[in-house]
Amino acid sequence: MGPGRGAGITGQAEELYRGKAKRVLAGPDPKTVVLEFTDRATAGDGARTGLIRGKGEVNCRVSALAFEFLESRGLGTHFLSQEGPRRLLVRRLEIIPLECVVRNRAAGSLCRRLGLEEGTPLRWPVVELYYKSDPLHDPMVNRWHARALGWASPEEVEALEAAALEANRLLTDFFGAAGLVLVDFKLEFGRFERRLLVGDEVSPDTCRLWDRETGLRLDKDRFRLDLGGESEAYRQVLARLERAWGGGGGAGG
Ligand code: TMP
Ligand code: ASP
Repeated sequence: MGPGRGAGITGQAEELYRGKAKRVLAGPDPKTVVLEFTDRATAGDGARTGLIRGKGEVNCRVSALAFEFLESRGLGTHFLSQEGPRRLLVRRLEIIPLECVVRNRAAGSLCRRLGLEEGTPLRWPVVELYYKSDPLHDPMVNRWHARALGWASPEEVEALEAAALEANRLLTDFFGAAGLVLVDFKLEFGRFERRLLVGDEVSPDTCRLWDRETGLRLDKDRFRLDLGGESEAYRQVLARLERAWGGGGGAGG
């Protein structure tokens, strides 16, 4: 766990924001916040809700390992330290209201929109942007909308898409070492002291992860599609990543 950064991290702290699966708490200094991961799961913008036992701890730890890995390979993230089983201390970002999805194989909404079969390989990664808005159900947008509406500057949109592609290369290796195919994933970005950093989480909630040998889905699609076995799938992802990277392989190179 991280260095002692004040009493607020592991004990009571002021809640700044409550999301669907995480709480954001005040950090020990104004440039930080604490993300607290819960077992709550939602699908279809909250149309379906439930609990996945142990998910909070898995998503917290997987995110910590993934962020350490990305940082060690030169990609900036908001991560500072893990503080207990469900909390991350992170830099407080000025959030850019875009979700950036990168796809290596067709799945989910891409299959629905284009009539593709799940798992169809893509010749090149696909980068998609979505406008973060619950009332509008996160509509898909493109870089022209992002620039025209001032959600991000032209330079930021360019940097954000390049960082997402670099994250795709790195995370493909990160999950690949655990026998997992990174089918697609979603990243969020924010500004911190004139840098663009990866924010939010990297977890089986935000990545599609398929077992390399069997094709078994080990991610939130088990909940979205009502397949059962969610807790076991999440635990398996973490166990495999701990085996591959938990010994410090991320930070050590
Ligand atoms: P999609 O196929 O439903 O568009 O999802 C693409 C990827 O983004 C998938 O890995 C799941 C992730 N995702 C989120 O993290 N949050 C969301 O709200 C949605 C819709 C998808
Ligand atoms: N984030 C979406 C929701 O809030 C669900 C998803 O991940 O597909 O319902």
